[in-house]
Amino acid sequence: MAIRKLRYEGDDILKKKSREVEEIDDKLQTLIDDMIETMHKYNGVGLAAVQVGILKRVVVIDLYDDNGPIVLINPVIIKTKGEQEVDEGCLSFPNKFAKVIRPAEVIAEYTNRNGKHMRVKAKELLAQAICHELDHLDGEVFVDKILPGTLEYIEPEK
Ligand code: NI
Repeated sequence: MAIRKLRYEGDDILKKKSREVEEIDDKLQTLIDDMIETMHKYNGVGLAAVQVGILKRVVVIDLYDDNGPIVLINPVIIKTKGEQEVDEGCLSFPNKFAKVIRPAEVIAEYTNRNGKHMRVKAKELLAQAICHELDHLDGEVFVDKILPGTLEYIEPEK
């Protein structure tokens, strides 16, 4: 396993659309392991492959609860319900935090790293994380949907 280099604000790759995964091979398993390690190193709750420079529809999420890291390959949101106003940040925008509106609940389908088709019904932070990470797969980032007047910019430590 290895820590991958994160892509940050201003890197055009963050605006690109990721491609469907066609085969879950050893290379993909290594990418998944590295993404989990990278997410943990930077204390993130989620990471999309594009954030380490790989345009594949792969997302890892870890809420640091009993479920452990969740790996979503080719995820699709099939239903949303309600709204929640939430504080949000992103490992690619390490100094920015803001409020955004996300669905209160989502149902998503995906393939897990063993190739099994899965369906998850999520609410609260998991719903937020799924929406945030799936946006990355379509080249969308949270700073484009922040609620006016809620952006906080934290000066980086020198
Ligand atoms: Ni993000």
